[in-house]
Amino acid sequence: MAGIWSEVWTLCLILALGTLDPSPAPREKPHDFRRILLGLDKCNACVGTSICKKFFKDEIRFERWLTAQSNLSSADVRSYEGNYTDSTAGWRPVVLSQLMSPHLHEISDNSICTSAGKGKSCSIEAVLRATSRFQSWVRSNILLPSMVKGLVTPMLRCPSQRLLDRIVRRYFEVTDVGSVQMKHFSEKDKLRLLYTLAVNQQPLILQMFPGTEGWPFLRYHGSCGRVMVWAGSRPLRSLFNSPLERRADIVYQLLHITQSLSANSLQFSLFYTSVSEDMFGTLDDSRVFIVDASTIGIIDLQEGHSPDEDLLPEHLDVFSCLSGSCARPPPCETVRATQSLTLLCKHVLNKLLVPNDVQSGQLPRAAVIELANCADQSQSDQRIIAAIQALKDILQTLRACSTFYGYRYPECLYSDKF
Ligand SMILES: *[C@@H]1O[C@H](CO)[C@@H](O)[C@H](O)[C@H]1NC(C)=O
Ligand SMILES: *[C@@H]1O[C@H](CO)[C@@H](O)[C@H](O)[C@H]1NC(C)=O
Repeated sequence: MAGIWSEVWTLCLILALGTLDPSPAPREKPHDFRRILLGLDKCNACVGTSICKKFFKDEIRFERWLTAQSNLSSADVRSYEGNYTDSTAGWRPVVLSQLMSPHLHEISDNSICTSAGKGKSCSIEAVLRATSRFQSWVRSNILLPSMVKGLVTPMLRCPSQRLLDRIVRRYFEVTDVGSVQMKHFSEKDKLRLLYTLAVNQQPLILQMFPGTEGWPFLRYHGSCGRVMVWAGSRPLRSLFNSPLERRADIVYQLLHITQSLSANSLQFSLFYTSVSEDMFGTLDDSRVFIVDASTIGIIDLQEGHSPDEDLLPEHLDVFSCLSGSCARPPPCETVRATQSLTLLCKHVLNKLLVPNDVQSGQLPRAAVIELANCADQSQSDQRIIAAIQALKDILQTLRACSTFYGYRYPECLYSDKF
């Protein structure tokens, strides 16, 4: 089934690519330009509107916003750095990001029209509303597993009712946030949530697991149209050449974050389906955060999930491929307890701890050996967990207490280890 579907998708892709219009949009007023830049004209196939006011009051600024150039079609930029202000604080750095690149959005929008047998210009909202999936959303006040079946979103690979309830309860883009019932959702709210779930889970993860509750995710400020806004951070890759003390601290935090995502009091096990250094960043107090949560999967350790029966054709629809791929992550049953750690060691940590550190006498050889064990999938889970513990013990001795590591403040002041 998935094979057939991916062929259908490829066909859609070819059709869509063939109909891309390269000519620039007619002259727009700055206001129109800004609506288009945000993707507000595409609502309610969009993320939300919670932060639109701040944009139009110029309390969020980024370069393209200020220059208001209308040569949009020449740019395929997905995210911008900008600044954000509110009454309590001065300007702070933020990232403004689309759910996917403008080019992929265009292909995705075209695939919506194609799915309904329409030409390339159709009302994408009308097409999505007419689907039987959306009609099941309209009829229900509870988000049920059947309503998200066939979506490729990693966190929905094996959803429990408790997980879906949390998505609804934490959904910030509606006025009355906090209930597991969707009674206070208008139809357009439901369409936005479904659209977001189908395209990119990033904004929802930031809402479900906020940093203020100790989760390692950046603060979500809100969305407008297809642009979401979260706190800015320093990319991890910019720290690859920093002194060992700094890198050792980052590796320690990355291991700690990864372990606490998989084992926490909420009993949701968050795991990586893929890992790259671009997933992570740091803030001014040297704390490490997950910047890109779009590939994180979730297993409910408390409720489990219904068995992963074969997908029926009716579960696959236009929403199943809106993210630019129809490929579903592997079933949750195949996720090893150490999958995240192995991916992390293999793709990120080996760029932070390098053989040169051993040759220069700064890093015990054992650290590099344990790192290699951790990255080796053929090792048993037990062996990998032991390697991580040994590695953390070594790194612990290299971490420093100073004002530079502001995030360790109480620990560094009061612990007698220092
Ligand atoms: C954001 O703030 C930084 C630091 O104050 C400044 O350098 C940058 O130019 C600002 N960017 C925009 C788009 O306002
Ligand atoms: C838009 O046009 C301006 C002026 O012609 C140019 O400076 C700018 O680089 C263009 N922007 C993009 C994203 O192509």
